[in-house]
Amino acid sequence: MLARSLASLVTLFLSLSALPGLALPSINDSRVSDPCATIAGQKWAAPSDVRACFTSFRVDPVEKANILTASTRILDFHTSTNYQIRAPQPFTADVHEDIIRDLQRINETEYENDLDLHIDISRSFKKLNDGHVVYINYCYDGLYSNFIPLPLVHLTDKLGFQHVHIAPEAFGVTKAEFHDQIDFWQNALPGDLKGNLESLNGAKVLLIDGKLPYVAVDENAAITGSFQGLGTRQNSFFSSYSRAAGGWTYVLGQFASQSLPLSDYVELTILREGKVLPETFTVPFRSRISTSAVAWTDSASFRAKNCKATAGTNGVDYYASSPPNTTVQDSTARAQQQPKISPDDLRKHPLNVILDATPPSDITLPPELVPASPPLGGSYSVAQFYYLNETQTGVLALGSFSAASFADLQTNLLVGLQNLKAAGAKQLIVDVTNNGGGFICVAHWLHRIITGAKSTTEPQAGLYTEARDQPLARAITAAIANGADPEFQLLYNPTNWAFGNNSLFPEKYDWLKDPVRKVINDHEDFFSQKLGQECQPFSIDPPAEALFDPKKTVVVSNGRCASSCSLFSITMNKLEGTKAVVFGGRNTVKQQYCGTVGGQSTNFATINSEIKSAKLKGHSLSPPDFLTNSVVGITWRLGFGIWNPEQPEEWEDHPANVHLDLTKENVNNPLAIWNDVIKAVF
Ligand SMILES: *[C@@H]1O[C@H](CO)[C@@H](O)[C@H](O)[C@H]1NC(C)=O
Ligand SMILES: *[C@@H]1O[C@H](CO)[C@@H](O)[C@H](O)[C@H]1NC(C)=O
Ligand SMILES: *[C@@H]1O[C@H](CO)[C@@H](O)[C@H](O)[C@H]1NC(C)=O
Ligand SMILES: *[C@@H]1O[C@H](CO)[C@@H](O)[C@H](O)[C@H]1NC(C)=O
Ligand SMILES: *[C@@H]1O[C@H](CO)[C@@H](O)[C@H](O)[C@H]1NC(C)=O
Repeated sequence: MLARSLASLVTLFLSLSALPGLALPSINDSRVSDPCATIAGQKWAAPSDVRACFTSFRVDPVEKANILTASTRILDFHTSTNYQIRAPQPFTADVHEDIIRDLQRINETEYENDLDLHIDISRSFKKLNDGHVVYINYCYDGLYSNFIPLPLVHLTDKLGFQHVHIAPEAFGVTKAEFHDQIDFWQNALPGDLKGNLESLNGAKVLLIDGKLPYVAVDENAAITGSFQGLGTRQNSFFSSYSRAAGGWTYVLGQFASQSLPLSDYVELTILREGKVLPETFTVPFRSRISTSAVAWTDSASFRAKNCKATAGTNGVDYYASSPPNTTVQDSTARAQQQPKISPDDLRKHPLNVILDATPPSDITLPPELVPASPPLGGSYSVAQFYYLNETQTGVLALGSFSAASFADLQTNLLVGLQNLKAAGAKQLIVDVTNNGGGFICVAHWLHRIITGAKSTTEPQAGLYTEARDQPLARAITAAIANGADPEFQLLYNPTNWAFGNNSLFPEKYDWLKDPVRKVINDHEDFFSQKLGQECQPFSIDPPAEALFDPKKTVVVSNGRCASSCSLFSITMNKLEGTKAVVFGGRNTVKQQYCGTVGGQSTNFATINSEIKSAKLKGHSLSPPDFLTNSVVGITWRLGFGIWNPEQPEEWEDHPANVHLDLTKENVNNPLAIWNDVIKAVF
């Protein structure tokens, strides 16, 4: 009965809608009219359906003004705004973005929908090519990830020619990760490729959307952000591995995964292994919802639950009359390229870490690519130690400079290196592939314990720095000097920082009172006095002697080593003669061994907490609280150059000493890469 009446209703609907000139009946099924209801509750969706939801919102003028004002004002605390208008060589071609002017342009631009506005803001920030300075709105970024099951790699053949390939392990990785979706892709392939996804493993990619693969690589490099060096941004297109807290992970790369559902299909022309004729076919993208998304039923609840500021967006007043809820996580943590840190350590230990709209990968590295030999004692979280006995080489695989516990990471780095030495290691490889930074003092610590006590490691094992000294920051330090921070909670509290001679500032010292004036790209700017280090004395005693000869130490990565990872790599390379090896890039493009140096990073929520706690929310330059689910990162301190102490290290060249080719044999295989590094370097 019911079935029949439904059927007749449908028939009625179809016949009515077929009649010319008749309006559609108002069938009250919200899925007809509400594109966010269409995808509600689904794990996988077509990217076009997700886009239909995302583009269904008009720009809210109040939210737009709020985002632009908050973003513009927080940039007063970012050290590099004026430098980035036109970076010096070698990065002049890579970094030339006047972000303040671009935000003004956006202010005057009309957008068809809220997603278009978001993309313009996000990409304008990305043009800075600085992984610290990123605008993210969790309403859109990473709410869905857009996938195809074909991660790519960049390989060099025996004659030295380089080609783009589908990763040899593509099917194994994607079948395991996308077990509930892989049949969709199997069935989407045409002809005798249907059901035969595995046969694409290792295939040479001749064309992507009808163009040479390097065109697609460079189109992505132009908008991906995060790193100054072109080679590093090119490498982001390809798959790679990473040592995460819970195990070895596989990073699909930006060809096979996107943080916004912008592509529906890609057309590939490939040559399969053992075939003589190229084949052309299209592969559809599929969008998978993030585990961080809050469930919704329709447009209104989508917007309310995912797009508005949360308890972690805007920081807190540490001195509010009702004490702040200390279990609330600052919403920036979700985008930081490091494992979750205990809230206590997060407050106590300064960080230098990049932000990424794509959450850190939790895709498992296939077992055949995981280093087989058991890790040595001292292996903990992101730090794993291996001893390669045939070559008496120790390996430290270090995926981040942060772990859940600062103290445990610090101790285990020492224990692990001592164990390698005890096992017989005479030389050391530090693999920092995809290491986005972390605790600044862990970077100093690792430099110090490898190298021993000497003038380059004591008392300063990192970089001297400066902070921006704009009026609102100066008002914060003045308020603290007048007693605004009795419990020493604030970042700007002088007791956290040191004079250029490395002795700590006294309590109540107003360290921004006398700004240092500079003119950068024709803009007048103001900075703090030169700041020394605050890591030493370390909380545990380092051994006096070097654990390894720094000249028999190499730092290895795909170039995607940022922030605290840069602090470590640069000091080892420039001060200690440690060689830097980068694998995988194009041999016609210079490979930087690190990027996004900074000195210390922070974010909107943290600075807003400073403003609130110092009772300066009423200051004319104070940013408004975000109304939206937004995050902005900034560089808060900028490191001075090692060889050029007048200029920031950020704009210095960091060319790899050795550029290692990837082949079918070593790609995405850490142990094989380490063995090739040993052959190439030691
Ligand atoms: C359709 O449903 C919505 C929400 O459930 C309701 O507000 C609206 O009045 C309904 N419209 C009709 C024509 O029944
Ligand atoms: C945007 O434009 C309006 C109108 O000209 C202006 O009042 C406002 O200050 C601008 N906002 C920003 C962030 O530039
Ligand atoms: C504090 O925040 C947590 C996490 O957001 C929440 O579960 C808890 O209910 C909050 N406590 C209070 C007292 O508001
Ligand atoms: C290295 O270790 C492997 C496995 O434990 C062992 O078979 C091999 O003999 C060792 N080689 C040397 C040179 O000690
Ligand atoms: C470091 O410099 C400060 C400021 O110039 C000075 O007051 C302090 O005495 C110096 N400390 C040492 C140990 O030289």
